[in-house]
Amino acid sequence: MKPQVVIIGAGHGGVQVAASLREAGFDGTIVLLSDEQTLPYQKPPLSKGYLQGKQTDEAILFRSPAYYDANGISLRLGVQAARILPEEKQVITGTGERIPYTQLVLATGAANRLLRVPGADAADIGYLRNLTDARRIGERLAQAQRVAIIGGGFIGLELAALAVEKGKQVTVIEAQQRLMERVLPAMLSDVFQAVHERQGVSLFLKSGVEAIEAAETGGHLIQVSTGQTVAADCILAGIGVIPETTLAMNAGIACENGILVNEYQQTSAPDIYAIGDCANHHNPYAGCRLRLESVQNAVDQAKTAVAHMTGHPVAYQAVPWFWTNQYHLKLQMAGLSAGYDQAVVRGDTATEKFSVYYYKNGRLIGVDSLNRPADHLNARKLLSAGITPDPAQLADTAFNLNNLLA
Ligand code: APR
Repeated sequence: MKPQVVIIGAGHGGVQVAASLREAGFDGTIVLLSDEQTLPYQKPPLSKGYLQGKQTDEAILFRSPAYYDANGISLRLGVQAARILPEEKQVITGTGERIPYTQLVLATGAANRLLRVPGADAADIGYLRNLTDARRIGERLAQAQRVAIIGGGFIGLELAALAVEKGKQVTVIEAQQRLMERVLPAMLSDVFQAVHERQGVSLFLKSGVEAIEAAETGGHLIQVSTGQTVAADCILAGIGVIPETTLAMNAGIACENGILVNEYQQTSAPDIYAIGDCANHHNPYAGCRLRLESVQNAVDQAKTAVAHMTGHPVAYQAVPWFWTNQYHLKLQMAGLSAGYDQAVVRGDTATEKFSVYYYKNGRLIGVDSLNRPADHLNARKLLSAGITPDPAQLADTAFNLNNLLA
């Protein structure tokens, strides 16, 4: 049989595998399975430009409709992979079709964590993961005036900013004591909190949702753990994700908070790779195993898997980076700052244009840049090269950090 790579999932990682295989000169068959009906599209714009109405369906496509045929990529839309048979090296679809593979890539991503409290199902909470979700949220926002958002993480806060921009009355209910606490230090959480409050968002921190009831006058009443009640016409939630591991687990592939992979994205099963949100890997920047939910990670792990498949293995070692846009705030994160023991600020906190450089044991481990995109690009290069700037150089904005890369 001619080599046939089957890719399950056509998000950022899956599409990149197909593209990188062709770029590497792979001349076998490529089958890209997507359980969605639409051509593959980018996810970050969904909670940003797409719902703002600034980007159309077409604008967020990865590739033109003609790209797949032109590159010999058999894109199978609306096809669900139901089972993997590692012994037979076959994928069985929801309709019982058997698709053989020489190599299989699991790019299955993650699913939204759902709120499980009394009344949550009846409240028809909006979760954002894919284009269908985004369209529904757009329709519901158009009809609502009072919008309650559960979860003050990336998704919840981007939706909050969006709803404010659409003139809605917005409440955010967050379980932790700070916004985006999972990824940000207090200093940055505080900036975002101040801006959301200035924009009129009512914030409930250290607050859980205990129950949701239907209001007699229409809409919903959310019972918050603080004893207060929030009235809303529309409830949205962004309370984290769960890696999609069902297929892998049913196939006997080792999983633990995601699908376990080595530095080449290989799973415990021969010729099966996993990449992106679903892949639990040893991350050299964190110094431990973890999953990363980001476009960067999906794309770079796709390239790592392809390099291995095509006989040029290079261990995964990309610098992690992420971003979020809320109102005029553009926050770009490079590296992983968890566990830092020193933080140095560059720029002006008062004007919301600054970067925070995190050190651990005297080494630079991460940089968060707020409205300073040049710092972010430079930070990715510093981290990649293992260069640690002197704190005095950072504090001096006249000092050109690119000089350190020479
Ligand atoms: N009530 C209130 N808040 C909650 C609850 C709850 N029951 N459960 C969780 N939270 C809060 C968490 O404390 C956290 O601040 O929800 C927030 C979830 O934030 P993230 O972990 O950033 O997840 P989310 O915003 O859903 O985004 C999911 O999608 O786009 C990607 O990169 C993004 O990794 C992120 C993922």
